[in-house]
Amino acid sequence: MFRRSLILLIGFWIGSNEAINVTNSRYRQNYHIIAPTGWLNDPNGLSYFNGNYHVFFQYDPTSSNGGGPKQWGHVTSTDLVNWKYTQPTIALAPDQSYDVGGVWTGSAVNNNGELTAIYTGLHNNTGEQLVNIATSTDGVTFTKYSGNPVVPTQPIDGTNQFRDPKVWKYNGVWYMVVGNQSKKNHGRTVLYQSDDLRQWTYLGPLADEPDNRVGSMWECPNFFYINGKHVLFMGTDVERDGDHFANQGLNVYFIGDFNYETKVFSHAVDFYELDNGHDFYAAQMFQDPKNRTILFAWMNSFGTNFEEMQDGWAHTLTVPRQLRLSSDGSRVQMIPVDELTLLRGTEYINSPIEIEGHDLRLYYDKQTGKLVLERTKDVRQVDMGSIMQLNLRIFLDQSSIEVFANDGNVTMSSRYYKDPIPTITLFAEYGVANVEFQAFRLNN
Ligand code: FRU
Repeated sequence: MFRRSLILLIGFWIGSNEAINVTNSRYRQNYHIIAPTGWLNDPNGLSYFNGNYHVFFQYDPTSSNGGGPKQWGHVTSTDLVNWKYTQPTIALAPDQSYDVGGVWTGSAVNNNGELTAIYTGLHNNTGEQLVNIATSTDGVTFTKYSGNPVVPTQPIDGTNQFRDPKVWKYNGVWYMVVGNQSKKNHGRTVLYQSDDLRQWTYLGPLADEPDNRVGSMWECPNFFYINGKHVLFMGTDVERDGDHFANQGLNVYFIGDFNYETKVFSHAVDFYELDNGHDFYAAQMFQDPKNRTILFAWMNSFGTNFEEMQDGWAHTLTVPRQLRLSSDGSRVQMIPVDELTLLRGTEYINSPIEIEGHDLRLYYDKQTGKLVLERTKDVRQVDMGSIMQLNLRIFLDQSSIEVFANDGNVTMSSRYYKDPIPTITLFAEYGVANVEFQAFRLNN
């Protein structure tokens, strides 16, 4: 966020370079991506390369409060559910003048057999945020390009908030969106193009809000084609409006059409939240070989107390989700990727279990028509519209809950803390007909 970036920019690093230890595993996640130790934030460089899914993440092994310079941590998987840390686990470290302040968020693409990471480097002396690249042939060891930074100046028509390049290819040409801020301090994204990922031409703003209704800075923009439309989503900060935009820091999206000739993205005025839970930010998507659009996000919101920070680590990514558009083209839907069923162990059918703690409640309120997720009295709720049937898929891990309602029309992702993990009761009341439950213990 703009506020936070300001703090990062004027801060300086006086900590040690040693990785800290995890001192208590009570909240460690069992099947979500977490850091081996220390701090994790945005998912980066999501890609499929040489038979593996790659997830990089913003990583600071030296602290659980993210105070040290960020690096790219790295995990791989052949099936999107069983992940292992690569050796070394750090793919990109801040060791050059142009990134010594931090190897910040970016994306990765397969460029003719070379996995190419396109990332934000924070120049420690100038505080400038510029775009750099690094390449790898084995998908594990990266070499930074000698001509970095590949975007050596920030766009003159914006401020120096300029980060999080996301690259894709269309008709043989590389395109890149970068998060930026207009001179009037409104969030926007800017567009570049290139033939070789090394020389970039600035094409101007891709979406530029005339006022600050969509936040003062856009971070982690993603722009992609899905089911006949173009979608732009980004992380920002929007003033709360009733049930909407309740978090400090959230992902919102626009749907529209992009013309590659004129480079104009004409989109609907309205924008929506990608997720309606307590903790969801800095999402990134990629297209996999099965032609799916898959997303991971950082389960975070700002101003929240994440209890695991006292245990020597912080934060988790979401489970991978497949994106699509609703049949009327007006909303992005997210469903868990099919592979998550591989985690299923013992099955419980129609066997409600007792719950002790009441810190977490998920219910559908028939009176208001809202799906409600209550975490220690802090409520997030979504109007489900007029529905005849409610279908919920709920993923619980040691310290998170992700709810997918009615085939991904609504999702809610939140962290929660209960030691030990509470048992769960599933029930329906007040004359609801035809209720079916199915529950599985998920393997680690
Ligand atoms: C989003 C963000 C990005 C930045 C990164 C730094 O959470 O602020 O804009 O590149 O985190 O870790």
